[in-house]
Amino acid sequence: MNNKIMALLGAELPIIQAPMAGVQGSELAIAVSEAGGLGSLPCGMLSVGQIVSEIEAIRAATTRPYNLNFFCHHMPEFDQHQHAKWREVLAPYFDSLDIDPAALPNNASRLPFNHDIADAIEPFRPPFISFHFGLPDPLLLARVKGWGTKVVSSATTLKEALWLEANGADGIIAQGLEAGGHRGMFLSDDITTQIGTASLVPQIAHHVDVPVIAAGGIGDSGGVKAAMLLGAAAVQVGTAYLLCDEANTSVFHRSAILSDRAEHTALTNIFSGRPARGIVNRAMAELDYMNPLAPTFPYASIEAAPLRSHAEQQGRDDFSPLWCGQNTSGCKAISAGELTKALAKY
Ligand SMILES: Cc1cc2nc3c(=O)[nH]c(=O)nc-3n(C[C@H](O)[C@H](O)[C@H](O)COP(=O)(O)O)c2cc1C
Repeated sequence: MNNKIMALLGAELPIIQAPMAGVQGSELAIAVSEAGGLGSLPCGMLSVGQIVSEIEAIRAATTRPYNLNFFCHHMPEFDQHQHAKWREVLAPYFDSLDIDPAALPNNASRLPFNHDIADAIEPFRPPFISFHFGLPDPLLLARVKGWGTKVVSSATTLKEALWLEANGADGIIAQGLEAGGHRGMFLSDDITTQIGTASLVPQIAHHVDVPVIAAGGIGDSGGVKAAMLLGAAAVQVGTAYLLCDEANTSVFHRSAILSDRAEHTALTNIFSGRPARGIVNRAMAELDYMNPLAPTFPYASIEAAPLRSHAEQQGRDDFSPLWCGQNTSGCKAISAGELTKALAKY
């Protein structure tokens, strides 16, 4: 590892375990950090209290560096009209699963990074923070950087990478189209702008001075080596960690990854309102992958959450967001430490 990336990550190995909201907590992060990689805690769906207790758990278990991950989307107003139209589309599913849409809440659980969260994490002076969907406003970003925290964010196009560098990011995660989970796109919502990792990494590496971290489709040490040859200084790996012992990936999610269904992933906005890659299931196939009627992020989860839980109670993953990248060849039921060390043998 060169000095720049070592200084950025503070870890022994140039391997970041991708933060994966909903499928992992501190246990996975600790295992990866202890193995010499940079373990990540996804905070995008946690309350402030949960964030603090998860950081305390990490700090009690390891003295190694760790990454906290937050979303920094713009939070729109709840739009009653948008939801009424979407609920008409979903009416047959609500009926068949015996859900009363009138009883659903008007708020969503994914809140963007804000000063209340900053107040709670400031005492920990976290070594590293990664953002998804851009960067927080300049004052909030300056506050975080004032703690000595290194800050990176995802870019899905060269334009986004240049914007992140110009606005203070210490490193850029080049998120290729293969990646599982939400596209980190923030300057455009046109999914035709999205390109694969092998095309994105060199484009960004040629144009920015900060270290580039490749993400998307990397599942083994060969993938890590290829990313480095393309100009990356480190990698961020998500999907390959999904079957690890320390991940909380559900039984539905694990069995879909292990089946031949994992050969077919697609981008969909129906679960959250933003495009994200997951294994195709009944809801994605029947409702259209990118449905223009799906409520704005993060409000689409208001309808998606009860559909998911009711269907799962009946033993079906029809409405489960099975977030997963295109390359599942590295997914194995092993410890996260073992996987981290194997990835680093490039
Ligand atoms: C299940 C899952 C959940 C994810 N959740 C987040 C998240 O909370 N925050 C984030 O920045 N990225 C998230 N991502 C995207 C990853 O940061 C990363 O871009 C992606 O996993 C890399 O591609 P790969 O899955 O092919 O390794 C998620 C990815 C997956 C597979």
